[in-house]
Amino acid sequence: MKAEVVSMTTEKPDMEAIRRGGEILKNGGLVAFPTETVYGLGGNALDSQASMKIYAAKGRPSDNPLIVHIARMDALAPIVKEIPPKAKLLAEKYWPGPLTMILPKAEIVPPETTGGLDSVAVRFPSDRIAQELILAAGGYVAAPSANTSGRPSPTTAQHVEEDLGGAIDMIIDGGQVGIGLESTIVDFTEEIPVVLRPGYISLEMLQELLGDVKMDKGLLITDSSVRPKAPGMKYRHYAPRADLAIVEGETESVIRKITALVKAAEAEGKKVGIIATDETMGRYPKTCIIKSIGSREEEETIAHHLYEVLREFDEGDAKVIYSEAFYTPRMGQAIMNRLLKAAGHKRIQAE
Ligand code: TXA
Ligand code: MG
Repeated sequence: MKAEVVSMTTEKPDMEAIRRGGEILKNGGLVAFPTETVYGLGGNALDSQASMKIYAAKGRPSDNPLIVHIARMDALAPIVKEIPPKAKLLAEKYWPGPLTMILPKAEIVPPETTGGLDSVAVRFPSDRIAQELILAAGGYVAAPSANTSGRPSPTTAQHVEEDLGGAIDMIIDGGQVGIGLESTIVDFTEEIPVVLRPGYISLEMLQELLGDVKMDKGLLITDSSVRPKAPGMKYRHYAPRADLAIVEGETESVIRKITALVKAAEAEGKKVGIIATDETMGRYPKTCIIKSIGSREEEETIAHHLYEVLREFDEGDAKVIYSEAFYTPRMGQAIMNRLLKAAGHKRIQAE
């Protein structure tokens, strides 16, 4: 099977192609589509066979639950047992948008979709193409990120084609996504809401609206004895082919440290890659493959390019990659969560 690729823009969705995508989903097929965070791999969320197909196409363990995407506020109630007042408040503030809520699931959601859990993850994306497709499919689309399990999430339709072009029915190309990191996941199955995955909506933004909100312990501690509650967060998301290490510290020391590390690696005949920023990329040895991830002045640009830069390094011949750390004010938590996972938590302190 070779996926049909259809192109359109978020401003002007091609409604005829979307209608066909909706038919494919209703008939149990798989359609990849853009959202404001990353591309999703869609299947009918209420069809257990479609969910099984999603796991197979991604090579994803079937105990790692999928997010159910909706496109109307009133689509939430039928798939959950109850909506706690704080969840309602959060939905009113940030839906449609890059937010996923975990709630106790209703019977109609098959266990295949939720990886056997009795809770369900729900998200209402803001992207117009995503919304129209969900409506055309009947209202409930299960969609993990549209990458092969273990690779970085796709931020362009080309990334989706590379990974899944041969395994799904249709890819909707809506251009590069806006945010570039997956949605913030908030768990409402316990007394106090818990962030299971940091994202564009930060812990501070959540606390401002809801009061007490906790970070999942499995995210804070790199100790492997504490398991993250979102099954997907326990997997080492992306291991680039090269050895990746994060160098932390104050900018000038980081530049000195990376430069010294480059000299040592090159002395062993290794090609070195560097993940820098617009502000620092001119400061490293020209013998390296230097990529700017964005500007520290605009942290959104760093989130936006992270997965793309990681994918690009897999095409080059770098054997070792050193990356600066990006503890930026608002999205730093989300950016560093993904980057540290990609590095297998390998960090080096620059003194
Ligand atoms: O931005 C996003 O959320 C994207 C776009 C396509 O919407 N989707 C996405 O899906 O990132 P995925 O499958 O790659 O990540 C879903 C995460 C996984 O870590 C999974 O374990 C967790 O959500 N999850 C899903 N249902 C859960 C549940 N009932 N309880 C705890 N964690 C859950
Ligand atoms: Mg994913």
